[in-house]
Amino acid sequence: MEPYIFDKLPQGPFAKLRQLIAGTTPKMSIFDMSIGDPKHQFPKFVQQIIIDNMSGFGNYPDGLGIESLRNANANWLNRRFKLENIADMNQHICTLNGTREGLFNAALLAVKQAQKSTPIMAIPDPFYQVYAAGAIAAQAEIIFMPTPKSTGFLPDLGSISDAQWQNMAVFFICSPSNPQGAFADKAYYEKLIALARKHDFYIFSDECYSEIYYDEKPISALEVAAKDGDFKNVISFFSLSKRSSLPGLRSGFCAGDATFIARYKKMRVVAAPQVPGPLQHVATAVWNDEQHVVESRALYAQKIDIAEQILGNMFDFERPQGGFFLWLNMAAYGGGVKAAQDLWQHCAIKALPGCYLSSLGSEGGADDYLRVALVGNLADTKSALKRMTAFYSNINKPRGAQK
Ligand SMILES: Cc1ncc(COP(=O)(O)O)c(C=O)c1O
Repeated sequence: MEPYIFDKLPQGPFAKLRQLIAGTTPKMSIFDMSIGDPKHQFPKFVQQIIIDNMSGFGNYPDGLGIESLRNANANWLNRRFKLENIADMNQHICTLNGTREGLFNAALLAVKQAQKSTPIMAIPDPFYQVYAAGAIAAQAEIIFMPTPKSTGFLPDLGSISDAQWQNMAVFFICSPSNPQGAFADKAYYEKLIALARKHDFYIFSDECYSEIYYDEKPISALEVAAKDGDFKNVISFFSLSKRSSLPGLRSGFCAGDATFIARYKKMRVVAAPQVPGPLQHVATAVWNDEQHVVESRALYAQKIDIAEQILGNMFDFERPQGGFFLWLNMAAYGGGVKAAQDLWQHCAIKALPGCYLSSLGSEGGADDYLRVALVGNLADTKSALKRMTAFYSNINKPRGAQK
């Protein structure tokens, strides 16, 4: 039988987790901290806009995004980042049905477009699974790049050889990173963009978590790419899923390199999923509103503060710069897989072993880690983290002293 190309994809992390914990039913209230599915209140005005635009479900939607939505996206970019107002709704913006499909389809185009003899896609590891799906579908060679603490939880650009840079088609970067919440800074982007322009590859900068930050704001790859008056070689991806707690709305966009965007739109207008018309009106209003984002960010900050108070330096806890995950080192407790089993069995907490997001195995260092999503409310977050620390404090006591 013909090999099935997606057999190369690692099994989905959540399917693996279900298998890991199957057969155990905890006897306490359950805290699901496994999926990055935001539970904060989305803006109340969403409902009325859907009602007002209901008749639009009777028409095929505008596949490239209605003007007001693309305008909202360009205005938001110009407001949020130091772009000197150059983001333009016609040249630089492409409407997406959420960034997941956007990343996948962009990978298909970029690999063809880059015209490398043996195209490479570099992917930070651990990683959001669709990067690998895109690379496999595009038949690119994948380089998984470890992102340990020693390199600031970002890929080490110095680890790629000249020959590899020459064949690079796409370099994925995620900032704030999922799962560690690390930011790429100006110097990092400068180096990467210089390499992209020298070797003519695309940077796909996944910035879906850009609005969830704790102290400083993350910058965008677009800010650095804009310095020369355009966004050459850079495409950044943004979404309402995390920013506005609307993962079910399916609104995202990508922005950047005008030539790429023009070609991408040409491909998408015949091949990509559209955002339903009424939802494009909702998305326009949501991108134009900042108040709910400020409130949601404040709630995430409260949860990070609670985590800091409860965990202290247990599990090598470090305050993430952004995003809503805790990336906890469970090496002292048997590693991420054992911790996920123990937490489910003894604390009714569902959390994701770091290695389920990795393709590098023990070499990548994710085996030691557990990803804990702070997507629930304050009270649940507090209870879950207290249950977790009580459990581990207890098992660390000498035998006999355990309750
Ligand atoms: C790092 C990262 N990128 C992209 C996405 C896709 O988000 P969406 O398709 O909802 O925009 C996710 C979703 O969890 C993610 O974690």
